[in-house]
Amino acid sequence: MKGAFFVVDGIGGAGKTTQLAFLKKKLGKRALFTHEPGGAPRAERIRSILKAEQEPQLDPLTDFFLFWAARAEHVGARILPALKKGKVVISDRFDSSTFAMQVRGDRQKSIEKLFWQCREHTLAGCEPDLYIILDAPIAAARKRRHGRSSEDRFDEKNEAYQARVRAGYLEFAKRFSKRAVVIPALLPPQEVQRRMWEEIEKRI
Ligand code: TMP
Repeated sequence: MKGAFFVVDGIGGAGKTTQLAFLKKKLGKRALFTHEPGGAPRAERIRSILKAEQEPQLDPLTDFFLFWAARAEHVGARILPALKKGKVVISDRFDSSTFAMQVRGDRQKSIEKLFWQCREHTLAGCEPDLYIILDAPIAAARKRRHGRSSEDRFDEKNEAYQARVRAGYLEFAKRFSKRAVVIPALLPPQEVQRRMWEEIEKRI
């Protein structure tokens, strides 16, 4: 098995948690499981700022740069060292979330250029080998999220926002077509697992 970097992403309620649990069982200690925002000590401190319920809410540009700052820490302190040791790294969310949520969801058209620049600088040497995007219709995802204690300020935004985020993930996947796969999250869980594993196995 060789080192490789995978991202599992998608709108809240698309079933990431279930699928990541499956991968943990399947890969065990051979893989490093991590998440964003966070994944490294200083990145976790940034996460607590991003996840805090605060009034007034963070300025959208602050939000955007904090996600990138946390990611730079995560990449340098955790992801690159693991890849260098030949580990398989699986991240729950990555820059696909920033594209979908901050650039498309928040309609920050003007920061799109910044997004690609931050990406080029931050991800040098650790471009994901594959983005696995779990895609679900907004209503179905909302139903699955309903009553979850982990529901946050992003999940609570309205349907139009959620629809833009979903479209943002699909657009991102299309752009990276050779390094992204979209799996319909409403398929039976075993089928989602099968498709996900088929893609991972080819790359490790
Ligand atoms: P979670 O760890 O519970 O999924 O919470 C992270 C929240 O942050 C989630 O609502 C998605 C959001 N997020 C962004 O808006 N942009 C990003 O770049 C990332 C990584 C997460």
